[in-house]
Amino acid sequence: MQKLTLTRPDDCHLHLRDGAALKMVLPYTVQQFARAIVMPNLKPPVRSVEDAAAYRDRILAAMPAGKRFEPLMTLYLTDNTSPEEIIAAKASGFVKALKYYPAGATTNSDFGVTDIRKCDRVFEAMQEVNMPLLLHGEVIDVDIFDRERVFIERHLVSLQQRFPNLRVVLEHVTTADAVQFVLAAENIAATITPQHLLFNRNILFKGGIRPHFYCLPILKREEHRQALLKAATSGNPKFFLGTDSAPHTRNSKESACGCAGCFSALHAMALYAEAFEGENALDKLEAFASFYGPDFYQFPRNTEQITLIKKTWRVPDEVPFTESGLVPLGAGQEMSWQVAESE
Ligand code: DOR
Ligand code: ZN
Repeated sequence: MQKLTLTRPDDCHLHLRDGAALKMVLPYTVQQFARAIVMPNLKPPVRSVEDAAAYRDRILAAMPAGKRFEPLMTLYLTDNTSPEEIIAAKASGFVKALKYYPAGATTNSDFGVTDIRKCDRVFEAMQEVNMPLLLHGEVIDVDIFDRERVFIERHLVSLQQRFPNLRVVLEHVTTADAVQFVLAAENIAATITPQHLLFNRNILFKGGIRPHFYCLPILKREEHRQALLKAATSGNPKFFLGTDSAPHTRNSKESACGCAGCFSALHAMALYAEAFEGENALDKLEAFASFYGPDFYQFPRNTEQITLIKKTWRVPDEVPFTESGLVPLGAGQEMSWQVAESE
């Protein structure tokens, strides 16, 4: 196959940052995606409808001229989020979900939830108004490779029993355990990133430590990657595209205490095409990228299209960013698909 035309996809999990960084990364997403679910972990986080409205305005102001793109906003759950904020969020029309970060789990999560039980009144309100909950599904007090599995056992099973009608996205799933849980659960879907489809944890240490493959949840064993590939290419609508593209400057990644996050917005659709082609499942890419996300969120599907063409190119070592450059996922590697420029 030399050419692949798809309904324009949506990125159901994206970090766009703010200020100069936002301006530098937004065009890559806009070139490929019609909409994105925008993560709220700014400094300070997007906690209220008012914060989200202001952030949305800044995103729209940073748009490349003549392009169309819809940022779908989320609020950051804290111990103090009120049920009233949920009702206001629903009424706003532009806030589409609430994001749960366990306090201390990842980048800018200091304001996160200290005990998920503290959110029960908020979950009640979300269930009531049909507002999805997006989970960074990790606990922080066990081995880094077990954090997702233990989150499911310790919190998610009971959350689902307490709020059976709450719609939940288990974000950036990384394990066979998560896949198995999502398959069996009602009202729960999952996003899958390109890095978790393309790499296992060995890449982190291949020939030396490689900080640009460090993200959270961390890459896992090959058997988990295989389970994710199988889920993503299965045609099951519970699994859909969310890049978790999370840009950090080269300096903050290549550091004694480097930040977590892979930058994939540059070439997200090419990365997914690579993964799906490896499974002989390019025919399953459109639904994963363009149908199942909006279906779960209860948005209309996009009607425009994008075209991927078979073409060998090399991922740049770096693209311009802020104080230092930005290193894309798989920098220097050859890719075999490219998104055709839209007019
Ligand atoms: O690797 C990650 N980077 N995981 C997250 O959960 C947050 C993200 C970021 O914002 O940099
Ligand atoms: Zn994320």
